[in-house]
Amino acid sequence: MRDSASMTGKTVLITGGTGGIGRAAAIGLASMGARVGITGRDRVRAERAAAVIRQKSGNPAIDVFVADMSSQAEVRRMATDALDSYPRIDVLMNNVGGFWAHRHVTADGLEHTFALNHLAPFLLTSLLLDRLIASAPARIVTVSSGAQSLGSIDFDDLMGERKYSGQRAYNQSKLANVMFTYELARRLAGTGVTATVLHPGMTSTSFGSEDTARGWGPLIAVMRRFMQSPERGADTSIYLASSAEAEGVTGRYFTGRSPKESHTSSYDASTVARLWRISADLVAVPGRQSLPA
Ligand SMILES: NC(=O)c1ccc[n+]([C@@H]2O[C@H](COP(=O)([O-])OP(=O)(O)OC[C@H]3O[C@@H](n4cnc5c(N)ncnc54)[C@H](OP(=O)(O)O)[C@@H]3O)[C@@H](O)[C@H]2O)c1
Repeated sequence: MRDSASMTGKTVLITGGTGGIGRAAAIGLASMGARVGITGRDRVRAERAAAVIRQKSGNPAIDVFVADMSSQAEVRRMATDALDSYPRIDVLMNNVGGFWAHRHVTADGLEHTFALNHLAPFLLTSLLLDRLIASAPARIVTVSSGAQSLGSIDFDDLMGERKYSGQRAYNQSKLANVMFTYELARRLAGTGVTATVLHPGMTSTSFGSEDTARGWGPLIAVMRRFMQSPERGADTSIYLASSAEAEGVTGRYFTGRSPKESHTSSYDASTVARLWRISADLVAVPGRQSLPA
């Protein structure tokens, strides 16, 4: 399935590489020769994952960055660490994401799903953007979900304060990933940096296990047996990050290595621009670090 693109000499930063799809993507890209940085909340867990990635890929160049990305201060600190460590960044893979059945509030007072799944990649990308542009040709790959097709952006209640449903919050955040990518691609035109977004397919990982809806645990455990492996789940991420075929491809939504249509609203320029403005305000990205207009 995989193509044998060489990633030797390239640096890839993958958020959420301690398990699931992110770790499988890290193994795949490290096997192609990339230096790979992974992120996670817990140093011990992240170092353990890095050891597995080194062992399975045969590549010792695996780095660990620790941050709880639901906190904007931690995203900023992690971005500084990555910029200090990496003179170039060829691929940023915004992979962190999750599902929470109940409403949680982050250190910044924001709804957790929106903050982690959408605002964290928005902020991290903007903080690393100058380095990505300086490293061009470079790629920004964001992991969304097929759930984007069921989403809508509820501008009147973005944070689910009036009414929260885990599924609605997840769908909204994954649609926001798609809108973010389309607008990012538009703003990055001519820079040599591409932005693509993908659905990995239903994959057997720890997804949703931190806060599962009551009564769903046993059913999900059974469903996981019929889902694809993390290695298969990482295939489109790896393809978009490394393949010659995907070079120069930007502003597209993929599943199974193929471009697909996303939710109709993701093509609505005024909705996309409105979400962008609100997101930029919520992460308060200043001056030159703000993404090109
Ligand atoms: N699995 C599926 O069927 C499926 C389907 C469609 C889309 N997706 C998308 O695929 C992406 C990866 O999901 P997955 O299935 O691989 O999930 P997973 O097994 O739960 O892995 C999530 C990763 O994110 C990290 N993470 C979670 N919360 C974090 C936080 N607050 N700060 C920093 N890191 C955090 C975890 O690291 P630590 O726990 O070590 O911090 C872990 O490395 C997500 O964006 C998800 O929406 C998955």
